[in-house]
Amino acid sequence: MSLLQPEKLPFFDHQLAPRPQNFIPIYQPSLGEREEALVLEAVRSGWISSQGKYIVQFEREFADFCGAKEGVAVCNGRIALHLALHALGIKAGDEVIVPALTFVASANAVHYTGATPVFADVDPVTWNMDPASVARLISPRTRAIMPVHIYGHPAPMAAINALAQDHDLWVVEDSAEAHGAAIGSQRTGTFGQMAAFSFMANKIITTGEGGMLTTNDTALAARCRMLRDHAMPPERRYWHPEVGFNYRMINLQAAVGVAQMRRIDEFIARKRQIAQQYNAALAGLPGITLPVELPGYTNVYWMYSVLVDEAYGLTRDELIPALRERGIDSRPFFHPLDTLPPYRSETPCPVALRLSQQGINLPSAPSLTAEQVAYICATLHDLAK
Ligand SMILES: Cc1ncc(COP(=O)(O)O)c(C=O)c1O
Repeated sequence: MSLLQPEKLPFFDHQLAPRPQNFIPIYQPSLGEREEALVLEAVRSGWISSQGKYIVQFEREFADFCGAKEGVAVCNGRIALHLALHALGIKAGDEVIVPALTFVASANAVHYTGATPVFADVDPVTWNMDPASVARLISPRTRAIMPVHIYGHPAPMAAINALAQDHDLWVVEDSAEAHGAAIGSQRTGTFGQMAAFSFMANKIITTGEGGMLTTNDTALAARCRMLRDHAMPPERRYWHPEVGFNYRMINLQAAVGVAQMRRIDEFIARKRQIAQQYNAALAGLPGITLPVELPGYTNVYWMYSVLVDEAYGLTRDELIPALRERGIDSRPFFHPLDTLPPYRSETPCPVALRLSQQGINLPSAPSLTAEQVAYICATLHDLAK
């Protein structure tokens, strides 16, 4: 008998919060026999650290999935962002433009280079970085733009790349939430000089914790591989031409990643199906604004999210505990980063502020059943009355 019951390992935002039976978690990794078998195989092989066949295989398969030339596997998404910025030479005194509505790791990655994150406001419809706001923030110190494909909808990369080209700036995509999202047939992870993905347990595929850099620049990828390994060039052992990091992914994580790659298309298709079911059931519910998918864009709905306004009858902050009482997990949108103590800024981001007050993420795991989604939608209708 297996000691694991992988399909019964829910991911909770608030791991310690009590939960009733049949509670629907915000996310849940889908792990199965293949993950178990490959990890076991890696353990038995003895290659449990940062060398081993699964690391190379995972890098190749994930890069191919994105349509990028190179993938560099690392410990987590934040580290992937930091390594990208560091490899591009971002340093103290520089500025990097980041959207105000994102997870704090986007700004933290900039902070760790010594540079300053500068916060752009976001678009009220897609919730992504607004290029007009970015344009207003470009200064002589700006070195890079970091678009974030928020909750799975791609940022407007044509406009962002045009600005970057005009002002000679790097573009580092934060694609932590958007595996497989696309504009036309081009997937995220291929629009800028470098991109970062996360494989934390609530992401579209997971390795427990983990991250990946993608790039079309082979020399940059080689530099990142050296930097992640204490800046030791493969051709000269224990010679360190600069200060590096230990940012390596381990073979056990990569084994899970390789197994997850077999199911990534299925996960994305299921997530899009779940979003369609939510959209159909919630359309027209007063006070609820649905997420969009702009024409030509593919939204992977990492977190299916809606906005809640006065017409709904409950505020977003009243809705979260009401859902919890009915066995449904949810979570609020991120606070705008310019309102957090380490990053407080005088430049207002009014759209990000409104979205952060009205936005709610609903359960979004690919393992959700149609009955569970129907129950969540029926509950949202009931609570509105
Ligand atoms: C937008 C965004 N950027 C970066 C990260 C950081 O990824 P990780 O938790 O793997 O460090 C996350 C998620 O955790 C995220 O949602």
